[in-house]
Amino acid sequence: MTPINARFPSYRPRRLRRSAALRDMVRETTLTPADFIWPVFVMDGEDGEEAIPSMPGVSRLTVDRVAKAAVEAHALGIPAICIFPYTPLSARTADCAMAWDMDNIANRAIRAVKAAVPGMAVMTDIALDPYNIDGQDGFVEDGYVVNDRTVEALVKMALAQAESGADILGPSDMMDGRIGAMRQALESEGHQHVAILSYSAKYASAFYGPFRDAVGASAALKGDKTTYQIDPGNGDEALRMIARDLDEGADMVMVKPGMAYLDICHRVKAEFGVPTFAYQVSGEYAMLQAAAANGWLDGKKVMMESLLAFKRAGCDGILTYFAPEASRLLQG
Ligand code: PBG
Repeated sequence: MTPINARFPSYRPRRLRRSAALRDMVRETTLTPADFIWPVFVMDGEDGEEAIPSMPGVSRLTVDRVAKAAVEAHALGIPAICIFPYTPLSARTADCAMAWDMDNIANRAIRAVKAAVPGMAVMTDIALDPYNIDGQDGFVEDGYVVNDRTVEALVKMALAQAESGADILGPSDMMDGRIGAMRQALESEGHQHVAILSYSAKYASAFYGPFRDAVGASAALKGDKTTYQIDPGNGDEALRMIARDLDEGADMVMVKPGMAYLDICHRVKAEFGVPTFAYQVSGEYAMLQAAAANGWLDGKKVMMESLLAFKRAGCDGILTYFAPEASRLLQG
């Protein structure tokens, strides 16, 4: 059979795959610890931690331990940490007032990390689900997550986080108009340097299950989030959300989940050319860890391959629970 490629044998692609040195020379994309934002779960108490069964290898940490972990992560070259608070069902309320309390565990953790390692960027999450009795990202009235009243609460939450020293705010709520409202409030309250990394293309995904266990929302959550998060069938809509959030004052944007949405990552970067992040979410992490624990996949290899794929798709960085382990591997 004649080869399909008429240039064969002058063109033998395998020449450049023959040795590690040649492969290193022509590799188009690489990973470094600077690509990672590390999401951590913080809980009340002192000098303690609690394993999260659906996320093997991840624990909720008390504030002091989050600060210690941040020091170690920074030493590994990880530039940013993202803080998620755990709230038990008993501490959740209908008015979600804890969300903008300066002394809630998220705000305490922001201050502790900034004090322990000032050079590390601290990112937050803005949504009511860690505090809400309904487990929803916004206030529920007559079974519907209401928009404008929720945005008012989210703005208060954003200001408390900025006041606590957060460098990057991460609105993950998918309410309409929240980025503009937050940006305006930040400007008028003297926080013009605080960046917003908007969860702009956030899908109504089943891959968030383990996260909801981690922040204590699973037990509280009634219904789903399909009236505000994007339908997994839509791609153009994600681009419209990105355009809208940039227009309202977002500095960086996110696609979430990650691995099943690499087409969206690629389209976003190609279309807008802005700093683009993907969130390799809890369910993706759990899937890879489960397969590795069973000996079905090589855990380290699939971890690195999955992370590299985000960079190849066009992402500037990745929120990943693998950040410390991957950084340790990269540092040899
Ligand atoms: C809350 C929020 C979620 C995640 C980040 N912020 C869950 C959700 O929307 O239900 C998911 C992260 C993960 O699964 O790792 N607004």
